Amino acid sequence: MDWDKLVEAAWRARESAYAPYSKFPVGAALLAVDGRIFSGCNVENLSYGLTNCAERVAIGAAVAVGVRQFLAVAVVADTAVPIAPCGACRQVLAEFGVPLVILANRSERVEFLLEELLPRASAGILDRPE
Ligand code: THU
Repeated sequence: MDWDKLVEAAWRARESAYAPYSKFPVGAALLAVDGRIFSGCNVENLSYGLTNCAERVAIGAAVAVGVRQFLAVAVVADTAVPIAPCGACRQVLAEFGVPLVILANRSERVEFLLEELLPRASAGILDRPE
């Protein structure tokens, strides 16, 4: 599969990043099952812990218009090696079953199954014996 369009959307979203504290802009783009693309950028806050990562902003943009099924997410940053999504974002991507994670910098692109990045994301949680 050619992920150029999705990665390109993530780079475009990165241009809108609000990252005055880290000065580390990140872009993300989610491909929904219906073919639509939803983008996100990181949105920081003076109270640093309130920062929203690009991936979670993209999920929010999609969910807010009723879209919950996805094929892949692309995440981009201008890093030496393709960026690693944080643990919180891995968990949120798992919530919506995003199967494939494409990570890119200016020169390299790598693909992972979300299951590799966050194994057993929901195993057992809320299961109760009959
Ligand atoms: N960040 C993301 O938006 N996505 C990631 O996958 C990793 C980190 C943001 C959060 C913060 O605004 C900045 O990058 C530095 O951590």
